[in-house]
Amino acid sequence: MKADEIRRKFLQFFESKGHAIIASASLVPENDPTVLFTTAGMHPLVPYLLGQKHPAGTRLANVQKCVRVQDIDEVGDNRHDTFFEMLGNWSLGDYFKKEAIEWSFEFFSDKKWLGLDPARVYVTIFEGDNDAPRDDESIRIWQEQFKKANIAAGLAENINDRTEGVRIYAYGKDKNWWGPAGQTGPCGPDTEMFYDMKPGGVGTAGHLHEGDEERYGQFCHPNCDCGRFIEFWNDVFMEYNKTADGAYDPLKQKNVDTGMGLERTAMILQNKNDIFATDLFQPIMETIQKNSSSYDMRSARIVADHIRTAVFILGDRVTPSNVERGYVLRRLIRRAVRFGQKLGMIKDFTVKLTDVVVSKYGAEYPELQHHHHDIVSAMRDEEEKFIKTLARGLKEFERLAQSDRVTERLSGEDAFTLFSTYGFPLEMTVEMAKERRIEVDEKGFWEEFQKHQDISRVGTEKKFKGGLADHSWETTRLHTATHLLQAALRKVLGNHVLQKGSNITAERLRFDFSHPAKLTNEEIKKVEDLVNDAIRRDLAVSWQEMSYDEAKAAGAIGLFASRYGEKVKVYSVGDFSKEVCGGPHVSHTAEVGGLKIVKEEAVSAGIRRLKATVS
Ligand code: ALA
Repeated sequence: MKADEIRRKFLQFFESKGHAIIASASLVPENDPTVLFTTAGMHPLVPYLLGQKHPAGTRLANVQKCVRVQDIDEVGDNRHDTFFEMLGNWSLGDYFKKEAIEWSFEFFSDKKWLGLDPARVYVTIFEGDNDAPRDDESIRIWQEQFKKANIAAGLAENINDRTEGVRIYAYGKDKNWWGPAGQTGPCGPDTEMFYDMKPGGVGTAGHLHEGDEERYGQFCHPNCDCGRFIEFWNDVFMEYNKTADGAYDPLKQKNVDTGMGLERTAMILQNKNDIFATDLFQPIMETIQKNSSSYDMRSARIVADHIRTAVFILGDRVTPSNVERGYVLRRLIRRAVRFGQKLGMIKDFTVKLTDVVVSKYGAEYPELQHHHHDIVSAMRDEEEKFIKTLARGLKEFERLAQSDRVTERLSGEDAFTLFSTYGFPLEMTVEMAKERRIEVDEKGFWEEFQKHQDISRVGTEKKFKGGLADHSWETTRLHTATHLLQAALRKVLGNHVLQKGSNITAERLRFDFSHPAKLTNEEIKKVEDLVNDAIRRDLAVSWQEMSYDEAKAAGAIGLFASRYGEKVKVYSVGDFSKEVCGGPHVSHTAEVGGLKIVKEEAVSAGIRRLKATVS
């Protein structure tokens, strides 16, 4: 089923259920200063969710264009993108859970509509906490739906429950709660639908394809991010209003807000394991391939994604600049240019791709056709400008990368110079450094950044990419957790374990390390237990400056070759860990809370990767 047909059917279905079809709002939020872009179909509807009367009535449906850039680092895999279309239906104080879930089930499973096999659909619900109870009503309604199709739908005892017949998984607020977008506003539990990409089911041994064991995580459950379960639809039940003092007051008007991702749904219905292989991306990917001299999939996906997003942002009359939305746009185009160059694409390829995007999407989004000329000229301009600075910046980067003082680590000041003088976004410097096995002092970069930039630019950085600047507390905890993790891995697996890479976002840590084999469940459990034990003991974290030789003698890990006489900072966590590092860290391990390893996988021969969260 082509994406056009999915859109059409969705609107037709909800029209038949009494919904008025409304137009997609602009990507530039009209009344909401808390976000740079429209990130979900509900954004433009906030006043109506709060009780204002919508002129089209109490049942609405549409296809909304959305931009989310916080996962930009993940773009390049099979399912992340920065622009997407969200199919949504809303009840403004009209129907609630029963109809919402029944219609979701009908639309995704009925052969007349999407015709997905419900036996491959798993759902998640809110598990309950002090603010709101477990969403038992949704459990019951889902069970009735699956029963109609003769499918058992038991509630999982925990997320690793793989008992036959289990189909409903419960999670906390981090997964099954939506909103409020700002600090206050309408919010509530949600229930999400996932499609199992591996035939055979959770409760059975299933039919494993070759490579599945590597491809899919060993602790797989609907919210595992290994890619086995693809979330395609979210039904949000807005029954609370979060107030400024943190209370959750029941809303007078109970709303439904749903969002179905068009790209992912197309991927499922088109039997692909890759959104970039759907008809939405195909002409773009083909053009990239035709115009590349050294093709690689990840770069091609990044170029396709970023150009598509940039075209839509330009279509809503944003122009590249150094602040706010314009800055996000600039970064997207620049990143696309860099990866385009990597693919050996020739000059003006952004223009060629712009034309492909406009012809693919122009009928659905006439503003693209309307502003085609402006979009092309902005794209061409930005590409030309950037290619010029890039050439100069690359020279400087190579000079820095080769100079003695940065053999293994590029300083925050240097990364900042590349940014301020040569227009290199930080993540680009990090990517280029990684290709040369150099680490970048990202924290140092942000310190420089803060010293130099005006408030609005800092604000943009924060909004652009939740990360160090935005979530310093979370990242500090994850940073300390990373030290604990490395120490525990060495205790469990041996001293051959050494850090090969690390990346922290507000949500999780990622840690790459040398080890020849896949970790067993027992090993992972042991590592987790050791870390959590260290956390429970509330060890003090302290640091000391010492010479390279002193650090070596003290048994600190993380020592890179350093200049003669240079002092290093060594962080100790009780007697548990001693590591060279710039900090910052929490002062006592209890502040970390608790560590959970959520994923283990291979990066390359001899290098494993763990992802973990703290609670
Ligand atoms: N607002 C909900 C989401 O974006 C539907 O997932």
